[in-house]
Amino acid sequence: MSFTKVCTLDDVWEGEMSAYTVNGHEIVLVCADGGAIRAFQGVCPHQDIALAEGKFDGKKLICRAHLWQFDADSGKGINPEDCALASYPVRVEGEDIFVSTEGVEPLFAHT
Ligand code: FES
Repeated sequence: MSFTKVCTLDDVWEGEMSAYTVNGHEIVLVCADGGAIRAFQGVCPHQDIALAEGKFDGKKLICRAHLWQFDADSGKGINPEDCALASYPVRVEGEDIFVSTEGVEPLFAHT
Protein backbone atom coordinates (compact mmCIF):
# COMPACT_ATOMS: atom_id res chain seq x y z
CA MET A 1 0.00 0.00 0.00
CA SER A 2 1.51 3.33 -0.99
CA PHE A 3 0.99 6.46 1.05
CA THR A 4 1.03 10.09 -0.11
CA LYS A 5 2.08 12.95 2.12
CA VAL A 6 -0.89 15.28 2.58
CA CYS A 7 0.15 17.81 5.20
CA THR A 8 1.68 18.08 8.66
CA LEU A 9 0.18 17.86 12.14
CA ASP A 10 0.36 21.66 12.30
CA ASP A 11 -2.20 21.87 9.50
CA VAL A 12 -4.98 19.96 11.29
CA TRP A 13 -5.38 20.86 14.93
CA GLU A 14 -7.37 18.85 17.41
CA GLY A 15 -11.06 19.49 16.82
CA GLU A 16 -10.49 20.76 13.28
CA MET A 17 -10.95 19.42 9.76
CA SER A 18 -9.43 20.34 6.40
CA ALA A 19 -10.14 19.39 2.82
CA TYR A 20 -7.47 18.08 0.45
CA THR A 21 -7.27 16.50 -2.95
CA VAL A 22 -4.99 13.45 -2.91
CA ASN A 23 -4.34 11.50 -6.12
CA GLY A 24 -7.63 12.84 -7.49
CA HIS A 25 -9.59 11.88 -4.37
CA GLU A 26 -11.44 14.58 -2.46
CA ILE A 27 -10.76 13.87 1.19
CA VAL A 28 -11.44 15.52 4.50
CA LEU A 29 -8.85 15.11 7.25
CA VAL A 30 -10.06 15.39 10.81
CA CYS A 31 -8.19 15.52 14.08
CA ALA A 32 -10.64 14.18 16.64
CA ASP A 33 -10.71 14.90 20.34
CA GLY A 34 -7.68 13.09 21.76
CA GLY A 35 -5.61 13.73 18.63
CA ALA A 36 -6.52 10.79 16.37
CA ILE A 37 -6.18 11.70 12.69
CA ARG A 38 -8.73 10.22 10.30
CA ALA A 39 -9.27 10.68 6.58
CA PHE A 40 -12.68 10.30 4.96
CA GLN A 41 -14.28 10.96 1.62
CA GLY A 42 -14.62 14.72 1.25
CA VAL A 43 -18.07 14.71 -0.27
CA CYS A 44 -21.25 13.91 1.63
CA PRO A 45 -22.75 10.51 0.71
CA HIS A 46 -26.14 12.20 0.40
CA GLN A 47 -25.47 14.82 -2.26
CA ASP A 48 -22.52 16.61 -3.78
CA ILE A 49 -21.64 18.82 -0.81
CA ALA A 50 -18.14 19.22 0.62
CA LEU A 51 -18.08 17.99 4.21
CA ALA A 52 -15.40 20.54 5.10
CA GLU A 53 -18.07 23.23 4.59
CA GLY A 54 -20.02 21.72 7.46
CA LYS A 55 -19.18 21.44 11.14
CA PHE A 56 -16.88 19.24 13.18
CA ASP A 57 -17.24 19.15 16.95
CA GLY A 58 -14.30 16.85 17.67
CA LYS A 59 -16.49 13.73 17.61
CA LYS A 60 -18.76 14.03 14.62
CA LEU A 61 -18.84 15.66 11.22
CA ILE A 62 -22.07 17.40 10.36
CA CYS A 63 -22.93 18.17 6.74
CA ARG A 64 -24.07 21.75 6.23
CA ALA A 65 -26.79 20.88 3.73
CA HIS A 66 -29.17 18.54 5.57
CA LEU A 67 -27.25 18.02 8.80
CA TRP A 68 -26.41 14.36 8.35
CA GLN A 69 -23.93 13.32 11.05
CA PHE A 70 -20.96 10.97 10.86
CA ASP A 71 -18.76 9.47 13.56
CA ALA A 72 -15.28 11.02 13.30
CA ASP A 73 -13.60 7.79 14.39
CA SER A 74 -15.28 5.22 12.15
CA GLY A 75 -17.07 7.32 9.51
CA LYS A 76 -20.32 5.50 10.30
CA GLY A 77 -23.54 7.40 9.96
CA ILE A 78 -25.03 8.58 13.25
CA ASN A 79 -28.10 10.23 11.79
CA PRO A 80 -29.16 8.64 9.57
CA GLU A 81 -27.52 5.33 10.47
CA ASP A 82 -27.80 3.64 7.08
CA CYS A 83 -24.92 5.52 5.49
CA ALA A 84 -21.20 5.90 6.03
CA LEU A 85 -18.14 7.74 4.87
CA ALA A 86 -15.42 5.84 3.07
CA SER A 87 -12.32 5.87 5.23
CA TYR A 88 -8.76 6.21 3.94
CA PRO A 89 -5.79 4.61 5.75
CA VAL A 90 -3.71 7.26 7.55
CA ARG A 91 -0.10 7.07 8.69
CA VAL A 92 1.63 9.67 10.82
CA GLU A 93 5.43 9.78 10.67
CA GLY A 94 6.99 12.44 12.83
CA GLU A 95 5.05 15.60 11.94
CA ASP A 96 3.91 14.37 8.55
CA ILE A 97 0.48 12.95 7.72
CA PHE A 98 0.23 10.41 4.89
CA VAL A 99 -2.90 8.93 3.33
CA SER A 100 -3.36 5.93 1.07
CA THR A 101 -6.05 6.25 -1.60
CA GLU A 102 -5.52 2.79 -3.10
CA GLY A 103 -8.77 0.93 -3.62
CA VAL A 104 -10.92 3.40 -1.68
CA GLU A 105 -14.00 4.81 -3.36
CA PRO A 106 -16.53 7.27 -1.95
CA LEU A 107 -19.78 5.76 -0.69
CA PHE A 108 -23.19 7.06 -1.61
CA ALA A 109 -26.32 6.58 0.37
CA HIS A 110 -29.90 5.79 -0.48
CA THR A 111 -31.57 8.64 -2.35
S1 FES B 1 -25.88 16.74 1.20
FE1 FES B 1 -25.01 16.23 3.12
S2 FES B 1 -26.75 15.83 4.33
FE2 FES B 1 -27.60 16.24 2.38
